[in-house]
Amino acid sequence: MNTPATTLYERLGKRPGITNITRQLIKNHMANPLVSTRYAASDDLDRVELRVIEFFCAGAGGPETYSGKDMLATHKGMNISEQEFVAVIDDAMAALETCGVDSPTRNEVLAILWSLKGEVIRV
Ligand code: HEM
Repeated sequence: MNTPATTLYERLGKRPGITNITRQLIKNHMANPLVSTRYAASDDLDRVELRVIEFFCAGAGGPETYSGKDMLATHKGMNISEQEFVAVIDDAMAALETCGVDSPTRNEVLAILWSLKGEVIRV
């Protein structure tokens, strides 16, 4: 058996850790010329931040309920490119590193994010 001692949610620092990571992620997006205009165009970044926190918590095995739209409905009609998708994942990996998340845990998040590409790119 090779079961990790703690859940992904715990290794990310539960809600406080995931809140920090998400704030860093949005900072990274705003500083990333490949995607900053996408987020600057949002009518309510505070709502997006809260929903991303919930999404991340629920997806990592936490008790939170995600109250936003599903990934397909959220990104439908945005015509998001492969390059933008990779840029957003790079920003996420950098945020995890900045927040001190270890490499095996970063790779676990990477696999989850990558698995969502069909619901985000050019939908
Ligand atoms: C696996 C990758 C991604 C995940 C998990 C993800 C997740 C989310 C979530 C949870 C929301 C909030 C939805 C809501 O408010 O109901 C959101 C919103 C948004 N996403 Fe993504 N996203 C991803 C990739 C991308 C990419 C590649 C782009 C384009 C650069 C993008 C652009 C946006 C924008 C602009 C919003 C805000 C929409 C609004 O203002 O309502 N996302 N995303």
